[in-house]
Amino acid sequence: MENKYKRTLITTALPYANGPVHIGHLAGVYVPADIYARYLRLQGRDVLMIGGSDEHGVPITIRARKEGITPQDVVDRYHKLIKDSFEELGISFDIYSRTTSETHAETASEFFRHIYDKGGFVEKASMQFYDEGAGRFVTDRNVVGECPVCHAPGAYGDQCEKCGSSLSATELINPRCAETGNTPVLRETFHWYLPLDRWQPQLQKWILEGHKEWRTNVYGQCKSWLDLGLQPRAVTRDLDWGIPVPVEGAEGKVLYVWFDAPIGYISNTKELLPEQWEKWWKDPETRIINFIGKDNIVFHCIIFPAMLLAYGDGYQLPDNVPSNEFLNLEGDKISTSRNWAVWLHEYLRDFPGKQDVLRYVLTANAPETKDNDFTWADFQARNNNELVAVLGNFVNRATVLTHKFFGGTLPTPAALQPADVQLADDLRAAVAELTASLEGFHFREALKQAMEIARLGNRYLQETEPWKVAKTDMERAGTILYTAIQLCANLAIAFEPFMPFMSKRLVKMLGVKDISWDMLGRMDLVDAGTAIAQPELLFDKIEDEAVAAQLQRLADTKKANLEAAWRPAEQQPDVDFDTFCRSDLRVGTVVECERVPKADKLLRFLIDDGTPEKRTIVSGIAKSYPDPSVLVGKQVVFIANLPPRKLRGIESQGMLLSAEDKDGRLVLTTVSDAVAPGAQVK
Ligand code: 2FM
Ligand code: ZN
Repeated sequence: MENKYKRTLITTALPYANGPVHIGHLAGVYVPADIYARYLRLQGRDVLMIGGSDEHGVPITIRARKEGITPQDVVDRYHKLIKDSFEELGISFDIYSRTTSETHAETASEFFRHIYDKGGFVEKASMQFYDEGAGRFVTDRNVVGECPVCHAPGAYGDQCEKCGSSLSATELINPRCAETGNTPVLRETFHWYLPLDRWQPQLQKWILEGHKEWRTNVYGQCKSWLDLGLQPRAVTRDLDWGIPVPVEGAEGKVLYVWFDAPIGYISNTKELLPEQWEKWWKDPETRIINFIGKDNIVFHCIIFPAMLLAYGDGYQLPDNVPSNEFLNLEGDKISTSRNWAVWLHEYLRDFPGKQDVLRYVLTANAPETKDNDFTWADFQARNNNELVAVLGNFVNRATVLTHKFFGGTLPTPAALQPADVQLADDLRAAVAELTASLEGFHFREALKQAMEIARLGNRYLQETEPWKVAKTDMERAGTILYTAIQLCANLAIAFEPFMPFMSKRLVKMLGVKDISWDMLGRMDLVDAGTAIAQPELLFDKIEDEAVAAQLQRLADTKKANLEAAWRPAEQQPDVDFDTFCRSDLRVGTVVECERVPKADKLLRFLIDDGTPEKRTIVSGIAKSYPDPSVLVGKQVVFIANLPPRKLRGIESQGMLLSAEDKDGRLVLTTVSDAVAPGAQVK
């Protein structure tokens, strides 16, 4: 494919090392970036894929204090977990380093100092919240209070999650520090600001005129920032975790995490190629692509480019910044703090050897143009109905039949018939589309087109029926299987960027060497006479139990979250004593208790209330008592003087009192000692 660039530098957003990575990170950034990098490598292009952990920032310090360990301990733990799990998933970084590395400290420091020396920052004083008890400044995010707009409690100092308003901490009503509960005071401080406004004309020209091809979500966000007019942004913070500001008089100040993190792309390239890194960043013949999440757009399209422009010295701006929308999980937003996620390291533990399945599902369902949902049912269906039934099935049929009729040795083809020619034509058409989709970062579409090649294979076998032909015409059967095996080899190449593990196995099975993208579309990839390895299944079915276990874990998480968030209800407004006394509360003994047919919430009680007639009460607590018979004999409290009402045709003469537990379970109120049925509760 035509390309004016000599080399491509792919960067992937650096994940924060204060937790493991989840499917949202993978679908948004790492899987698409890896597909692209693998595709370019197969094309023989010069490519680097740079990754690493983002190890600074306030949340890491908070986590460390909570656990009584150092921030370095926190990042050491998660950096290793993240790095290992990426590797196991086959994310093919050329380097995966970290922002606590020495190279990074030097690079980021020098970067700041260079801009500083050029007069590229402005220094400004401001008032900021300070926690006197803890002896430190508090960032807006870590101050909570009542929202000045909607009056919800617990709004963050930078945003109210209830009404979505953007706030600054000083606007909060009754602010307090989230971590300590202390009331913060305002204290003067100063910081260095990057005057983004200085770079507005250049950024505007570069993006709005020069990159209309960017994804609409990226272009649109940039446009609205630019339309609003760029403002100076503080690039330092009062904190003790981070890269010290390399300027005299800046004691106690570090680089803002969003200033140092993107420089990590440069540091990591430097760490990998100490002698040659500059050509990857400063040569106009390098094409830089930043794969990021949608919450990172402004940092990569406005702030980091402004930093690069401010530094000067030939630094190149990215040519594209593909960013996905968000992936939800079973209909809910993925959340680290609520543990609502599928964690990569846990997936790898629960589904050993199934890396490709996750890569496939996340790509097939990638949130490229809109938010999307990951469900375990879809995961199972895509595995069973697509990977097993389409791709795995075709390869299996082709290899098994080659063994059955030709002892596994690929036969020499005879003259081609129209079906064989048609297959080759269809293959080439699919490959052209697949390539165009990959070039345009449409990975979801690209995967569909790769799968189309497997579908072509199944249709071809269905149509040519080599198992029948073999009974009468071995030569023709040989040609069909030769053709089918060539298609298998094409599949191994076409799917390599998406499912590298499967591809490797298939390539080995077929005895193909050194695959490359330009081999795609050829029908002579496996030589006649090649011994095809014993067929093995490329994919196996995912059973219901495996999916049920994952759903159970999510249900447990939801329950635990509800319980953790539970608070006693607000007290009701006062009632006067006389009003209260008008409620006739009594004790009764349960004589009968059974489910109301066709009403899954209702139980019918017969209560001995001290009268010969007794009374019937229908209560909506059936879900809390799967075996209603356990309630017989219990002494319960009921309101006797509510007007009777009919529930499912049964007249209910009163109401039983019950307490609602954290998980919504209703627990009947009983008395502590036996009392006479009908006794009043006062
Ligand atoms: O949003 C995040 O997870 C950030 N840690 C991404 C940083 S990207 C880059 F700038 F390093
Ligand atoms: Zn609000």
